[in-house]
Amino acid sequence: MNTQRVLTGITTSGTPHLGNYVGAIRPAVAASRAAGVESFYFLADYHALIKIDEPARIQRSTLEIAATWIAAGLDPERVTFYRQSDVPEIPELTWLLTCVTGKGLLNRAHAYKASVDKNTAAQQDPDADVTAGLFMYPVLMAADILMFNAHKVPVGRDQIQHIEMARDMAASFNHRYGEHFVLPEAAIEESVATLPGLDGRKMSKSYDNTIPLFATPAQLKKLIAGIKTDSRAPGEPKDTEGSALFQIYQAFATPAETANLRQAYADGIAWSEAKQILFERIDHEIAPMRETYEALLRNPDRLEDLLLAGAAKARRIASPFTAKLRHAVGLRDLRSTDAPVKAKAEKSTEPVFKQYRERDGKFYFKQVDAQGQVLLQSVGFDSPKDAAMAIAKLRG
Ligand code: TRP
Repeated sequence: MNTQRVLTGITTSGTPHLGNYVGAIRPAVAASRAAGVESFYFLADYHALIKIDEPARIQRSTLEIAATWIAAGLDPERVTFYRQSDVPEIPELTWLLTCVTGKGLLNRAHAYKASVDKNTAAQQDPDADVTAGLFMYPVLMAADILMFNAHKVPVGRDQIQHIEMARDMAASFNHRYGEHFVLPEAAIEESVATLPGLDGRKMSKSYDNTIPLFATPAQLKKLIAGIKTDSRAPGEPKDTEGSALFQIYQAFATPAETANLRQAYADGIAWSEAKQILFERIDHEIAPMRETYEALLRNPDRLEDLLLAGAAKARRIASPFTAKLRHAVGLRDLRSTDAPVKAKAEKSTEPVFKQYRERDGKFYFKQVDAQGQVLLQSVGFDSPKDAAMAIAKLRG
């Protein structure tokens, strides 16, 4: 397989904002146009259930996000564009992966750990209000990715750990059942790290500091007016460093435009003027998409058809692959006779060294054979390292 497979998902738990656009949608749409790339884009509505228990919001968000991707230029003929919950093979794979995933790996997931830390700080039960869905989030995400053997996964930095976990799960599945999965890699758009929000922190729903992608021009203007700046007066040189306004501009502007604004900062541009420049730059890029977006929202029929066609396309891959995976793990037709039961690897009959510490505080080792018979007993060492070095010497 020579074509690169690129896959990414957006959780249908809100209204797309500029951060989603710059960090995920725009680079994904651009990548989908490259030659030699096969792209998969999907609406992660199962993931949305982890955060949201209002059915109408899930539905609305799914509609808005689907419309956004099409409006942003995604060509559903060229790519595979689908809704996660239309592909039942994904939750099925989630279970297969669950069974090769260490619980300890999931304990270390940032999102879960953040909840636990918060509870612990509040002197509550560590798992208070933590659903098993939140805990399992990385496994569902790995299933999304591994189902289509994606090589590259464009995501925000906050998702890198999830891709690493998907790699771990792929590797442990492959180790047990043979090479079925490609090990995916995160693809981070380096030039736009994370877009800052109105308050200067990362633009994120959870900080309530977002600019909706398809705000009306009037709303957009008003929100931009609210971007946090320092109190430097017109005429005073301004710092681009740490300026949310500048960083947002940079995400939309060409390098030459960015250089111009940098110069304007040095020359003491008024914040109100900088905000006007930012407004115009963003609106210039968004306005044509906004029109398409609004037309799509008025006609959900078109989007629904498009998503169902996308799911059918996705399942043409997912369904035979799942059959193969089921077979690999032993969920099989009882009559099938290939791949006979492998004898479990013989337990080693070689003697082994065991290290331990005694009450005297010293470090010892002994060599025992397969029956547990002690063949050799060491003297006490001052450190485990000394003991290990003595073992190494004995091994030659
Ligand atoms: N967890 C991702 C996010 O919140 C969304 C997502 C779900 C995803 N499954 C995915 C992204 C698979 C990439 C690949 O941004």
